Amino acid sequence: MRLIRTLIDRDQDHFEPALPPGLSELYDGDLHFRTSPAERPLIIANFASTLDGVVSYEIKGQAGGSTISGGDTADRFIMGLLRASADAIIVGARTVHDVSPEGLWIPEYTYPDAKHLYTEYRVNVLHKPEYPILVIVSGSGRLELERAIFRTPGVRTVVITTSAGKDELTREGAATLGSVEVFALNSNSGSIALPSILRLLYSQFGIQMLLHEGGPTLFGQFLAAEAVDELFLTLSPQIAGRREDAFRPGLVQGMEFIPKCAPWFQLLSVKQEAEHMYLRYRRTPSRSFDVAN
Ligand SMILES: NC(=O)c1ccc[n+]([C@@H]2O[C@H](COP(=O)([O-])OP(=O)(O)OC[C@H]3O[C@@H](n4cnc5c(N)ncnc54)[C@H](OP(=O)(O)O)[C@@H]3O)[C@@H](O)[C@H]2O)c1
Repeated sequence: MRLIRTLIDRDQDHFEPALPPGLSELYDGDLHFRTSPAERPLIIANFASTLDGVVSYEIKGQAGGSTISGGDTADRFIMGLLRASADAIIVGARTVHDVSPEGLWIPEYTYPDAKHLYTEYRVNVLHKPEYPILVIVSGSGRLELERAIFRTPGVRTVVITTSAGKDELTREGAATLGSVEVFALNSNSGSIALPSILRLLYSQFGIQMLLHEGGPTLFGQFLAAEAVDELFLTLSPQIAGRREDAFRPGLVQGMEFIPKCAPWFQLLSVKQEAEHMYLRYRRTPSRSFDVAN
């Protein structure tokens, strides 16, 4: 049964199917990814945004992406499909804080009906372990270790932090958690340089495909480092608005570009279900404009 309707698909020059039939039927098309660029993983980002570009209401209990997408079924299916495709998923610490304590970054958590299809694709077609590794970036190391992501057998969680963050996590008992690995990297005032994170994931963990699930602060750093290859964006048919004195992040936070080096993208596919649109973009070289306005 089809979950989404494909309106545009510009990525059809492939001889072999990538998805097993059950998933390509639900997705209404195939899903191919390029191989990773030299010396770093292929990086695919996935966000849901309102029509006016807001990705979080920043209201306690309603700050997550599911409030933005309205819990949309097809968005959840695509999220699961991208998770099933990835070796690892990376998130910033604030995104973790806004997810329910039971939340898991595994394919079937977002769309349980496709659990067997995701597993078949991941294990039998892609030959990957049952679940992707969850990578959390936190300079402070202040993470709630009672969360399910730190205590679910079979779910491997890697925390990339500073030496102060590692001390904090050790004090809280991270070393006693069997499926949690903590790595301290050099930092500048608590901020770890992105290239060192990518080097660690590529060289030490062999991550070929990394799924970026936010938030906007971490995503901005990836864009600035030219370390985003694709963006899957669910456009949700609502408008959140912003007041001048209240903070509601857009897709990117804490980073800005000038026109000469703003990231541009090529549209790869457009899918739709009811009022939602599901856009897939591939990064292109920056454009420069000589316009007076
Ligand atoms: N709509 C969507 O699709 C979507 C997707 C994802 C997230 N969200 C929402 O976005 C909001 C969170 O986004 P956010 O931008 O505020 O936060 P974020 O990017 O998720 O996390 C920021 C935190 O990550 C750590 N961090 C990021 N870069 C770092 C670096 N280079 N070195 C060390 N630590 C680093 C820091 O943690 P420490 O403070 O621990 O040092 C920082 O405070 C939430 O409301 C979430 O629900 C929405």
